[in-house]
Amino acid sequence: MSIIVTGGAGFIGSNFIIDWLDLNDQKLINLDKLTYAGNPQNLINLKNNPNYIFVKGDICDKKLIDQLFNTYKPQHIINFASETHVDKSIDSPADFIYTNIVGTFKLLESTRIYWNNLKSEEKENFRFLHVSTDEVYGSLDFAAPSFNETHPYKPNSPYSASKASSDHLVRTYHHTYSIPVLTTHCSNNYGPYQFPEKLIPLVIYNALAGKKFPLYGDGQQVRDWLYVGDHCDAIRQVLEKGKVGEVYNIGGCNQKTNLEVVEMICDILDMVKPRVNGDTYKSQITFVKDRFGHDRRYSIDTSKIKKELHWQPTETFETGIKKTIQWYIDNQEWVKKVTGDNYHHWINKHYK
Ligand code: NAD
Ligand code: TYD
Repeated sequence: MSIIVTGGAGFIGSNFIIDWLDLNDQKLINLDKLTYAGNPQNLINLKNNPNYIFVKGDICDKKLIDQLFNTYKPQHIINFASETHVDKSIDSPADFIYTNIVGTFKLLESTRIYWNNLKSEEKENFRFLHVSTDEVYGSLDFAAPSFNETHPYKPNSPYSASKASSDHLVRTYHHTYSIPVLTTHCSNNYGPYQFPEKLIPLVIYNALAGKKFPLYGDGQQVRDWLYVGDHCDAIRQVLEKGKVGEVYNIGGCNQKTNLEVVEMICDILDMVKPRVNGDTYKSQITFVKDRFGHDRRYSIDTSKIKKELHWQPTETFETGIKKTIQWYIDNQEWVKKVTGDNYHHWINKHYK
């Protein structure tokens, strides 16, 4: 029995793999293209673990996926592989269409052939879990109820549109071909190993480097933050107990404006890593031009996963963000490794 994880060298995937191999004595194959967002360094501690197999490759490469299925005969496949940065999707959407839509389609096609040839018990136990996002639902007004699983799709960025499209394909493969799929929609994650292009690690990185950190527009956009370890736990619960063909929303029940998040990071840094000149980190906050089509608010209704799978987050934002900040302080070498020339090129181009 084995499990294939795609995109496992990225932020959530690597956290998932570390936790999974801690809890399970099972072969895990990590298929990752190693884009700028994928860092094998995240999983360096697994290099002597006989259950961990890394394969560098593209989810659009159907021949390679067929080969992996035939060699490892997985019971589960979890699809994390994705282009994920909204700003990059606005700047250059093509990779998002290719990986998120075409890639998911290729995975589903390989799965269809593999699954059709399984014995009936194996067929029943097989799962294709697709990791999606709350962003497919679009933006909420401040007083609007949170997204539940029947909320209509209204994606607003090339990223969310490509994820929405992949969700529809996944749904179709269950409806038409009976493939046992599960789909999860999660809110914004934060925690160790997140690439410093996303808000929280970007702010921590810039703060420690003495640089300004950019808040888009008025900083009043709301996100529902979830600690990555809680997301990984939710995925395990859905895989184990989720009803085939169903969709589960996963959220942190931690709605905060971007300004609140950034000010909280500053307050914690002021305590754990005070600036040499005694100034508060808040003096580094800079308001910049807003993102095009910026979604105002996301909020997740977690009642289904709570009720049916008895999952709920264990970290509050206060506990999770403290751990995260400490991780970045303790792992400056990792930060240095992942922020090479391409990273600085993007930052200079984007924030100018
Ligand atoms: P990430 O950008 O940190 O990592 C993505 C990984 O996918 C990288 O390792 C990259 O190399 C790999 N990848 C990209 N294209 C590939 C391809 N064609 N073939 C194989 N591998 C490829 O992303 P993340 O933040 O870890 O997100 C993982 C998943 O969770 C994504 O599907 C994303 O949509 C979803 N999600 C993320 C968040 C969040 O806040 N980060 C929230 C909800 C849902
Ligand atoms: P991000 O981490 O990119 O996640 P997403 O766009 O998927 O929600 O951004 C989180 C919020 O922070 C979002 O409202 C955009 C905002 N943001 C800034 O204000 N400044 C920044 O430099 C970045 C990257 C994001």
